[in-house]
Amino acid sequence: MLRVRALKKSFGDFKAVNGAHLTVEKGQLVAVIGPNGAGKTTLFNLITGQLQPDGGSIVFNDENINKLPPYKICRKGIARSFQIANVFPRLTVFHNVQVSVLSQQKLSNKLFHPTSQMAVEETTRILESVGLLDKKFDVAGSLSHGDKRTLEIAIAIGNEPELLILDEPTAGMSPEETTATMSLIQTLSDKQGLTILFCEHDMQVVFNVAQSIMVMQQGYTIVQGTPEEVRQNSEVQQAYLGGA
Ligand SMILES: Nc1ncnc2c1ncn2[C@@H]1O[C@H](COP(=O)(O)OP(=O)(O)OP(=O)(O)O)[C@@H](O)[C@H]1O
Ligand SMILES: [Mg+2]
Repeated sequence: MLRVRALKKSFGDFKAVNGAHLTVEKGQLVAVIGPNGAGKTTLFNLITGQLQPDGGSIVFNDENINKLPPYKICRKGIARSFQIANVFPRLTVFHNVQVSVLSQQKLSNKLFHPTSQMAVEETTRILESVGLLDKKFDVAGSLSHGDKRTLEIAIAIGNEPELLILDEPTAGMSPEETTATMSLIQTLSDKQGLTILFCEHDMQVVFNVAQSIMVMQQGYTIVQGTPEEVRQNSEVQQAYLGGA
């Protein structure tokens, strides 16, 4: 579904992404892992069109998307969440997701329906799938940090993506929230068949859930493989696990 090859992006003289390779197959749950500043967010910004690559290729469903703007990439079926929570704080949980569902639908033949009644079923289904249905009337700004991040995932799902990209979905979470979020991501992958790409600092968090792990360091890919392959890789052991 997604193939990134030899991707490069510099900021001035600094090579933030410098030889990134990544493959995501349909239905897979793939993690990108690497320390602070490894280039994970920059890689995601390149894939979703927030940044333009200096070199290499990003191919989504057999089409090179290197030069497409974010809204076109979104329409092709890639939705994302950001490292810092991004919700409409004054809207209810329900409306946050409803807006996203509506933005995806063709509204031309529904002009005479009041918006409040649009996409109610779909919005309800999404909120149920992420476990936020009981908070649907809460104002998003009043949610806990963990629930805000979950709401972001729900908003991204509202775009009906083929590929869901999550930038550190557990950032700033308590251990309990982290466990709950990882199990949600696993459920979305297993039960709903969503293709998910996410990044994370913490190896331990991803080893149990990811089917494939790409390890980044200083902008380049050390290896991508199954958790076992990654664990066995000597360069990963040296660079990332301190030789352990
Ligand atoms: N717009 C920018 N201008 C200049 N340097 C940047 C810019 N964006 C990122 N960088 C630098 O590129 C490097 C990679 O940053 P990036 O945010 O991609 O890392 P990351 O792996 O996501 O890190 P973290 O785990 O802390 O989120 C960092 O050294 C960062 O300071
Ligand atoms: Mg980052």
